[in-house]
Amino acid sequence: MKKVTMLDIAKMAGVSKATVSMVLSKHDQSISEETRNKVLSLAKEMNYIPNSLARSLSTKKTGTIGIILPDITNPFFSSIARAIEDEASLLGYNVIFCNTDNETNKEEKYIKLLISKLVDGVIFIAGGESENSVKMLKHNNIPFVLVDRYIDTHEEEYGVYALNKDGVLKGIEYLYNEGSRRIAFVEGPKTLEISRQRLDGYKYSMNKYGLYDERLVFSGDFTIDGGIKATESILQKTTNLDAIFYSNDAMALGGIKVLLKRGFKIPKDIRVLGFDNIELSEIFEPELTTIAQPIYEMGKQSCKLLIDVIDAADVENKQIYFETELIIRET
Ligand code: RIB
Repeated sequence: MKKVTMLDIAKMAGVSKATVSMVLSKHDQSISEETRNKVLSLAKEMNYIPNSLARSLSTKKTGTIGIILPDITNPFFSSIARAIEDEASLLGYNVIFCNTDNETNKEEKYIKLLISKLVDGVIFIAGGESENSVKMLKHNNIPFVLVDRYIDTHEEEYGVYALNKDGVLKGIEYLYNEGSRRIAFVEGPKTLEISRQRLDGYKYSMNKYGLYDERLVFSGDFTIDGGIKATESILQKTTNLDAIFYSNDAMALGGIKVLLKRGFKIPKDIRVLGFDNIELSEIFEPELTTIAQPIYEMGKQSCKLLIDVIDAADVENKQIYFETELIIRET
């Protein structure tokens, strides 16, 4: 079955191919209402599908953006991806999702793929030491926006971020005001700037209260299993804790499982605080108290910013920072 072309529609409608092209590309101001309607109804009736490659060659755009994510199984990233796709769709763009499992070689593989697919731009959430990945985007003149995870390229890049350190300050202040003094902290992957920012917030605020003890800082990896392992280590190496502050919700939920199995009452025996406010945190039992990032808004704004960059529109701020919010629940 031959693919329907604009010439086929033109013949059926008794008009020129140029007229069909103007109607289908909505450059049809000079075309009569009758002819426009005839062409559009024939195109629908004949199941005409535009040749996107031909359109790209003429407009030098594909109407497609790439999203590079480090871990699609973490609800933080699936939620932010959802927001980006919603906004991209509203702005007339398709999306190609790339999940890198925090692996730099996968990041670079996907960047090459997106470049070969002639995407108009990329939203990049780095998985770790991703300086070279960003260099690849820059060297190929691919418009990009960094989201959530800051990468130092020694230049001011377009980016959308949460105020991580400030969020941890809010969390420690809350726990302190609730009477917690011995507060353990589970950090994120050491390769990430956001992990350093959150740990910095913990150190700063615990020092402010005269409570900082480096033996209460434990390594984590932003996964549920990482939260389980960190909590087992905490219970092995510490006593009389008042609270555990996890650098993200996934680890906090893993930690709660361990604490409940060990017979702890939450929050009576020990408080638990997370960071993100993923949907699961509200329906988990007990419901997680956490520092909320405005995940959906961050995704939406990152997409708007990227499309502005693609359209070479005036951009007021190259970097957008979002406040976090303390969400008090049951832990
Ligand atoms: O839960 C995943 C974590 O990694 C979040 O805190 C988010 O900030 C991302 O960087």
